[in-house]
Amino acid sequence: MRALTVEPGVAGSDRLREVAEPHRDEGSVLVAALALGICGTDREIVSGSYGEAPPGQPHLVLGHESLGRVLVAPDGGDLSPGDQVVGIVRRPDPVPCANCAVGEWDMCRNGRYTEHGIKGLHGFARDRYRLRPEGLVRVDPGLGDLGVLLEPTSVVAKAWEHVERIGERAVWDPRTVLITGAGPVGLLAALLGAQRGLDVHVLDRVADGPKPALVDALGATYHTTHVEEFELDADVVIECTGAPAVVAAVLAGTARNAVVCLAGVSSPGRRVAVDLGALNREWVLENDVVFGSVNANRRHYEAGAAALATADRAWLSRLLTRKVPIESYAEALERREDDIKTVVSF
Ligand code: BGC
Repeated sequence: MRALTVEPGVAGSDRLREVAEPHRDEGSVLVAALALGICGTDREIVSGSYGEAPPGQPHLVLGHESLGRVLVAPDGGDLSPGDQVVGIVRRPDPVPCANCAVGEWDMCRNGRYTEHGIKGLHGFARDRYRLRPEGLVRVDPGLGDLGVLLEPTSVVAKAWEHVERIGERAVWDPRTVLITGAGPVGLLAALLGAQRGLDVHVLDRVADGPKPALVDALGATYHTTHVEEFELDADVVIECTGAPAVVAAVLAGTARNAVVCLAGVSSPGRRVAVDLGALNREWVLENDVVFGSVNANRRHYEAGAAALATADRAWLSRLLTRKVPIESYAEALERREDDIKTVVSF
């Protein structure tokens, strides 16, 4: 069967190659790949700057945003052949730490967690894979291909959950949310904000293409104002660009009691001068909270699945801007103007 593999640390080592069928030890549920979403992390792995193969193996099978169909499942379990499923990316560390021990692997404390297609575990860019039942989440079959959006949705479901948990430290009655970046994560974060009945504002530098209309269709407001000139005093900010200049501007412009979630992974090395004393003063005197958020546990996948199930399908389908067959995967790794989410199909 086919698998898209890389040699972690080696730029341009991506190949579509023949590999063995998944081993029974990988899990009792056999899944046929239907679709795979491509994100910045995949491009980082292909560029050689991130990723780790399973111990003792030269290659890593890529792919962590998945959608598959169950071919074989153990009798009497929750899953049946034909179910549409998404694989949970992160698995608990082997110690396990206090969080992994209770299923909160997204908050792993010792960093020894593994991630399918990213860190120490093969991913889902292969015709078939096996997982344990607890590593899979069923998606509404009516979503079709749109189920591939579950993994990024789980990431924003976690971000929202943590925003709300932090907000509840005092009276919590948020009205406005600012999302920086209208990529897939930003748009899905905006969707979840709109589903909460909030006044959602999305800031992006792109003035044309599909993004403004997508934001509009959520009943949200799209802005292309330069981030440093943007004034909103939002109760919640979800920063999804990871761009140092945007991060710095967001951190300098917080409202009183604001909860700011940093959800964009940036590349190190680009320095931006900030007045840390002034920032610290503002955050302390205003009780602001700035926190980072990554990954998701089962609860977040389930929240994400519920959010997708109730979202407007026509809107969701506008996020899948390119579908590329696995044989042409290299085209999916290219970034093109007007791309939102590129999906590889099997
Ligand atoms: C994935 C997360 C993962 C993170 C860091 C992201 O692209 O969506 O599940 O934890 O990369 O590896």
